[in-house]
Amino acid sequence: MNTNSKVTVGTFRKRKIAGEKISMITVYDATSASLCHQANVDALLVGDSLAMTVLGYKNTLPLTMDEALHHAKAVRRGAPDAFVIFDMPFMSYQADDSEALRNAGRVLKEAGADAVKLEGGAEVAPLIEKLVRNGIPVLAHIGLLPQHIMTSGGYRQTGKTPEDAARLLEDARKVEAAGAFATVLECMPSETGKMISEKISIPTIGIGSGPDCDGQVQVLNDLLGLYEEFTPKHARRYAELGKLFREAVGNYANDVKTGKFK
Ligand code: KIV
Repeated sequence: MNTNSKVTVGTFRKRKIAGEKISMITVYDATSASLCHQANVDALLVGDSLAMTVLGYKNTLPLTMDEALHHAKAVRRGAPDAFVIFDMPFMSYQADDSEALRNAGRVLKEAGADAVKLEGGAEVAPLIEKLVRNGIPVLAHIGLLPQHIMTSGGYRQTGKTPEDAARLLEDARKVEAAGAFATVLECMPSETGKMISEKISIPTIGIGSGPDCDGQVQVLNDLLGLYEEFTPKHARRYAELGKLFREAVGNYANDVKTGKFK
């Protein structure tokens, strides 16, 4: 039973002003959405990490709008009262603004999500402004951008040099001015995460960006030990469910084989 009061976009700003941290977690299906909401997580993100954690792709690039919407609808069915954010898949918003607006509109209309997330800083600020002006709340995402791995050459920490930290601050200021209600800060040194969090008025939701962000987001499958292909440095393990899973199903298979299953 969730004991939090209902989260809205206004809650994010209020929490920052009150100095109260925000928890966010990725979810991809009705069962995990319901359990995470009952566990009092503040916001559920249908992350495009879905591509890797659930759909078996090597990175997030192949995920389509239709695949992601299918999972977002399940999340909404599992947690009707939760604050649900939908991560816009690669190439669902980059090609042109009209297509981006139509796709983001589908998220609210068809999946009943509360907001969308999109990757990028200054370069996507005009699009963020257009979405917000049309009634679509936006969570920004700056720092390491997994949808850019082909150009960046991999999953690399950002904001390590003073110049790069200043560029990230500029990105943060641009998405704030465009009307994003919060921004993810992915994979930057703690000092950069702290500096940006202190200099902007919207909450920062960190992943691998230190303890001073206004909130934290984690990938559910990393947190539970369910995604074993690759463990990012910033992932925090709270359980080893992959191991338990194999043991439980292995015991079942063995019981059937040996005739112990009655
Ligand atoms: O897709 C995802 O899981 C994300 C989080 C890591 C922020 O974008």
